[in-house]
Amino acid sequence: MQDKIKLLSKKKENALLGGGEDRIAAQHQKGKLTARERIELLVDEGSFDELDMFVQHRAKDFGLDKQKYPGDGVVTGIAKIDGRPVALFSQDFTVFGGSLSEAHAEKIAKVMKIAMKIGVPVIGLNDSGGARIQEGVVSLGGYADIFLLNTLASGVIPQVSVILGPCAGGAVYSPAITDFVFMVKNSSYMFVTGPNVVKTVTHEDVSFEELGGAETHAAKSGVAHFILDNEIETLLSVRKLLSFLPLNYKDKPAEHEFNLDELLPEEKLDFVIPDNANKPYDMREIINLLVDEEDFFEVHSNYAENIIVGFARIGGMPIGIVANQPQVLAGVLDINSSVKGARFVRFCDSFNIPLLVLVDVPGFLPGTEQEWNGIIRHGAKLLYAFCEATVPKITVITRKAYGGAYDVMNSKHIRGDFNFAWPTAEIAVMGPKGAVEIIFKKEISKAENPAAEIEKKLNEYIEKFANPFVAAERGYIDDVIEPKDTKIKLINAFRLLKTKVDKNPGKKHGNIPL
Ligand code: HXC
Repeated sequence: MQDKIKLLSKKKENALLGGGEDRIAAQHQKGKLTARERIELLVDEGSFDELDMFVQHRAKDFGLDKQKYPGDGVVTGIAKIDGRPVALFSQDFTVFGGSLSEAHAEKIAKVMKIAMKIGVPVIGLNDSGGARIQEGVVSLGGYADIFLLNTLASGVIPQVSVILGPCAGGAVYSPAITDFVFMVKNSSYMFVTGPNVVKTVTHEDVSFEELGGAETHAAKSGVAHFILDNEIETLLSVRKLLSFLPLNYKDKPAEHEFNLDELLPEEKLDFVIPDNANKPYDMREIINLLVDEEDFFEVHSNYAENIIVGFARIGGMPIGIVANQPQVLAGVLDINSSVKGARFVRFCDSFNIPLLVLVDVPGFLPGTEQEWNGIIRHGAKLLYAFCEATVPKITVITRKAYGGAYDVMNSKHIRGDFNFAWPTAEIAVMGPKGAVEIIFKKEISKAENPAAEIEKKLNEYIEKFANPFVAAERGYIDDVIEPKDTKIKLINAFRLLKTKVDKNPGKKHGNIPL
């Protein structure tokens, strides 16, 4: 018996070495951690239960039958983060460059299937040279199996991809289907075709970093939701993200204790909106004053910065926030901000995370660039996402809510549960200047002093429409509130909405304008 236990220990020790000490040293030399070191940092101490440690590839060609490593380049299993279960896989670059073989893919598929069955998030730590070249089409099949599972798991369990090395070719499509992508600056790359192929096909000279590095995907393509300076910060940030999420679509996100009796009005909120309606201000200031402990976990912070999305707690309750950012492009909705907002709204709705929507939006961005690239189609995504969402949805209009953007930003008409406005709100078809130039065109052109006429009409328009009361008179706004009382109002409203039940009509699935 003791002999057998010793043999088991020896086999396990051997498996822990992955591709061997030299390759581990090479991994460290590149400033990268090993697959197992990453897991240790990510999960609660001692909580990792490994699966399939002894799995090996079955390939024979190109001398592979003589190169076998237990685990076959990916460490998989179940662990805990903040005491809650997660499933994970961590690709081991020291074994065939973390490349994906048939067996490697089967291990990932197994842990994903378990995650779906028991209803826990799945986290993938990706560091791989892609399809195991020696296995040919079998490894492509393995990728496809994973893509299918990613798709089936979408909306069932949260899926998080962490890119900690190369991720090239079709392999990028697994992370792309998952809910959130983390990247590390200067050591992770994602592209469909690398710089050499790009050079051959388009004659462009582009570096790995510029083509598919973390900053490119965070700011230009929007593929990366989070970028961090190093692997440790990245893994800690994954832990933080999970703290806002439920385990699965039937679960609720974890609340913290909160004593509402101790909450005082937040006077600073009365002074954030500038007197001049055209002056920008930072919506993040408002967010930080509203959320518990000023702790706002922003998603996609470098992409389409005219809209802000992210997670926070209010009165201890996890929420998703979608907010226009008047400081960037006046907070206008354009293609990228619509898509960013829509995807976030759909994630929150999939996983029972209530939404707070802060509105200061002058409308959709005009211009040929936007029209020709499909602002109609892309703007419709945000509209569709808000219309479809059945989670508790609360809106606060801080200043402008003009035109179609008023409707889109979780208006009462599209099932906003409680819609509040600050006294500074201006809810109208369009801004005063544009409106006056259209509706009083004749009067202005006939006037002896057109400038004075414009001024007069502007004042009339502002008096009539640049306020929240016309909408409030119709019940489109449930209450006009003082900014300083907003947090208390929101906590009470979100508490009330805990028992909200709303449904969409039965269907196979909707057809969001993709
Ligand atoms: C088998 C691979 C491999 C692969 C790397 N290795 N990629 N083995 N299949 N795809 C092995 C190397 O032979 C080497 O083995 C070890 O991993 C480390 O690789 P190095 O090249 O020494 O490392 P580095 O210099 O850091 O370069 C890493 C790399 C490079 C950029 C990933 O290895 C590379 O370009 N690999 C090929 C990438 C690729 O074209 N993959 C196919 C993409 S298409 P030893 O024994 O020396 O340690 C694809 C399609 C997916 O994946 C489609 C899904 C639908």
